Amino acid sequence: MALINKAIFPVAGLGTRFLPATKAQPKEMLPVVDKPLIQYAVEEAYAAGIRQMIFVNGRNKRAIPDHFDTAFELETELEAAGKKELLALVHSIKPDDMECIYIRQPKALGLGHAVLCAQCVVVNEPFAVLLADDLMVGKPPILKQMVDQFAEWQASILAVQEVPAEHTKRYGIVAGAPISDRLMDLTHMVEKPAPEDAPSRLGVAGRYILTPGVFREIAAQPRGVGGEIQLTDGIAALMRREKVFAYRYEGKRYDCGSKEGFLQANVELALAHPELGPSFREYLKALEI
Ligand code: G1P
Repeated sequence: MALINKAIFPVAGLGTRFLPATKAQPKEMLPVVDKPLIQYAVEEAYAAGIRQMIFVNGRNKRAIPDHFDTAFELETELEAAGKKELLALVHSIKPDDMECIYIRQPKALGLGHAVLCAQCVVVNEPFAVLLADDLMVGKPPILKQMVDQFAEWQASILAVQEVPAEHTKRYGIVAGAPISDRLMDLTHMVEKPAPEDAPSRLGVAGRYILTPGVFREIAAQPRGVGGEIQLTDGIAALMRREKVFAYRYEGKRYDCGSKEGFLQANVELALAHPELGPSFREYLKALEI
């Protein structure tokens, strides 16, 4: 039975929605409380049992490989100063059994193209895709919930949530036949439809488990919405050959690609933070708003 051991993190986007913050640093390195977005996504994949992390990056993204590499000067300083806890914190970013692989996406041709760039590493295994600007919080972590579903169904699974009708234009929207409370056997998927064209209000969040058959389908797609090679179009084509499920995850998604979602994530995760939480709560309560 196939297990999921590889995750693709498409991180080549320009982050234009977050300028000027993203002029010289990747949007995936923006911190929520004290951790960059990409680290939340990598930790979620690790918690789901995945050990090979494949980053599809572009120019100006050096901070990401640096973040998961040894920081020699910093570690030497911390060691000399006897700051063991901080040293352990720095080491925990990349556990010894985790492997990081970097692939360059030479042109920003879309999410489907980014996934296709990782085909040479994934080859013939089922794999996960995590979009780091969707910060997902759940117990168990959302991707672990999906890996558990995969173990049962051995088919592609997309994380979905209900979205307001006026937001269908922001998501891949799916439709199909419900097979349980949380699972749906999909027949349709369209990228960012207008509300009047949307087949449902179930929007795809940035977590996917895909079978390797999707590579061939993506490669066969013409440019889609926005002139980009869309992952959605590849998955819609895959549906004609294999089963693809939507899974209503248990948990919460913060759209950290938007300023509002990013601020909400910071406030809510700060409130839940074991050290910061209590005093931050008092601070918020005292605000005259
Ligand atoms: C991408 C996908 C879209 C999905 C969304 C989730 O869009 O193309 O299907 O619903 O991520 O965040 P993007 O947000 O990159 O425009």
